Parts: sequence; C-alpha cells; structure tokens
Amino acid sequence: MPIILAIESSCDETAAAVYQATSENDNLKNKMLSSDLFSQIEMHKKFGGVVPEIASKAHLEKIKLIVQSALDKANVTLKDVDIIAATNKPGLPGSLLIGLSFAKAIAYANNKKLIGINHLEGHMFSACIDNNIPFPFLCLTASGGHTSFYIVNNYLEYQLLGQTLDDAAGEAFDKVAKLLELDYPGGPIIEKLAEEVHFQDFFKYKRAMSNSYDFSFSGIKTAVFYDLIKKNAYNNIEKRLSDKSIYLKQQVSSSLLKAVADIFKQKLILAFKQFSNIKAVAFVGGVACNKYIKSELEKTCINNNIAFFAPDKRYCTDNAAMIAFVAYRKFLNNQFSDFSLDIY
Ligand code: KG4
Ligand code: ZN
Repeated sequence: MPIILAIESSCDETAAAVYQATSENDNLKNKMLSSDLFSQIEMHKKFGGVVPEIASKAHLEKIKLIVQSALDKANVTLKDVDIIAATNKPGLPGSLLIGLSFAKAIAYANNKKLIGINHLEGHMFSACIDNNIPFPFLCLTASGGHTSFYIVNNYLEYQLLGQTLDDAAGEAFDKVAKLLELDYPGGPIIEKLAEEVHFQDFFKYKRAMSNSYDFSFSGIKTAVFYDLIKKNAYNNIEKRLSDKSIYLKQQVSSSLLKAVADIFKQKLILAFKQFSNIKAVAFVGGVACNKYIKSELEKTCINNNIAFFAPDKRYCTDNAAMIAFVAYRKFLNNQFSDFSLDIY
C-alpha cells in the first residue's frame, strides 16, 4: 500500500502532507502521518484579500521547506514515498504552478508516480479523512473561493446540485468584513462579533434563492453597504466607519451569520425532500470552521434523522491532507497523471 506525499498551493497556503493508506474500506485504519503548512494570511492582511503576485512569490520561498518539514514530521524520506500528488485546479495560476512544478520535478527526479488533484474534490472528501461517511451523502462546500452543493454517491463519484452565482460564502464574510473595517479573513472575526450579541437577527437580510440549489450572496453584501449608509455609519468624505460603531458591527455580523446559516439550512431541507436516500451531510471548506453554522446544520440533520459530519478544523481551511486523501482514492482507481499535466 502506498505512501503519498501531497502538495497544495492553489491559493494562500503552502501545504504538504504525507498519508499512509492500508485500508480501502476503513478510513480510520489509514494514517495521515503529517500535515504541515505555511499560511500567508499575515502577508495579505493589509490588502484586505489575497494578492496573487505576493502569493506565488511566497509559495516559491516556502515550498521546499514545507515539503521537507512534512516528510520529517512523518518520519519518512522521499525514498519511502510512492506517489507525489499536487493540486492542479482550480486556483490562482501563479500559485498552482509553483506547487505542481515542484511536485513534477521531484516526481521525475525520483521516479515516482504523479497524480493531479482537483482542489474541490479535496474539500469534498476532507470530512472522510477521519470518518467513514455513508454514501450517498450531501456535501456543502463553503470556502473563500467556492460555494457548491453536491450529492456524493461514492468516492470520486458525485453530481453538482448547485453553486453560487456570484460571491462565495467565505468571500461574502470577507467583503462584509472589509466594509466593516475588520481584518482579513473576515469569517472568524464576524463569528466572534456575532457571538457577542448572541447570534440575534437584527436586520433580517433577504435569504435569496430559497427554492433553488444555487446560491447568491452578493445581494447581502450590497444590503449591508446601503444599511451602513442609511444608518449614517460612514463619515461621508472618507467612507470610514465612525469609532463608536462596535455595536453596529456586532449587529451586522450577527445578522449576516444568521442569514448564511438559514440559506444553508434551506438547501439541506430542499435536498432531503428530493432525495429520500440521503444518509449523511458533510459540511466542508473554510466556512465549516464556523461553530454557529455548524451547530445549526447539525440540528437540521438531527431533526431529519440524517448523520452530520464536518472535518477537523485543520482540514476545513486549505490543507494538503485532503489532497493526499483524494490521491489515494485515485490511486485505487489507477488514475495517474503523466508529466504533461498542467494547471487549470
Ligand atoms: O477553504 P479556505 O481556506 O480557502 C478557500 O479555498 O477559499 O477558506 C477560507 C475562507 C475565508 O473566506 C474565511 O473568511 C472563511 O473561510 N472562514 C470562516 C471562518 N473561518 C474561516 N468563515 C466563517 N466563519 C469562520 N469561523
Ligand atoms: Zn479551498
């Protein structure tokens, strides 16, 4: 059974992981020997979002270090590794190129098999790393770049039910945080502010597209913006929030969080009605770090007698462990890549 070294560099985390798989049927018997990363959040903070040029330069500087650290922490050397996997889509081109080129180079030089991985499949199966989730399950992926809803029939077999037509859920948190003059990434700060006012729904933002599996979050962002103007929260010339606006920030954060949680709940209920064979729900991606949304979705599942899973926090935001997991499933299907593999 193989030892897999996986590399993830699609956005602003330079990550590597080593996975040793022995069982096809019981994920709990397999071992994530290491999962290491360098987060660039501090480098992008002052720009309020990820700057692609800074991201690719940082990947280039850190990748060798992180890969070596993942191997060391796993107590293996490159010689012990059978397969090198890397995210090759989707993501920032410059960032993807660094990870994939590095993976190709060490795979070629050391005569290892290569597997290209779809980042979204990584998120989709990230809750399977530590769980044996029964199929079919619904997967709600909510991150900074994507918000998609799938029905997953088996490993690597799934169907897209719906996705965001504009902003991703995490992006909505990040953009509203910017309007509120909060730091990047906005999600964790918005969660903290919402908790301070006990997750009350002050402004009742419109829950868009309640009868469809698609999502739309840009309307909420615009509603927040006009709400802040209406409330004279901005000092007009500089478009800066006034100092005494902490309560307003808490109210907006809490109302936003409630709206997003409601939208997600609506999608689950819609799918439970349409697909009577659903056995479980997996909530994945960076937004799945959110304890409030997670507990609301879990309650919805419990009320419908459906099992609920979310990955460990370190596997919610971008990481290479989820890439290694999917690489193992691709190995089992004999789905290797050749060295012409490119980024998308
Ligand atoms: O999965 P991820 O690391 O990157 C992408 O693939 O996009 O997700 C990052 C996103 C950011 O938008 C961030 O604001 C959001 O996840 N996020 C959260 C929380 N922690 C991170 N959103 C809501 N609540 C959180 N606690
Ligand atoms: Zn991601």
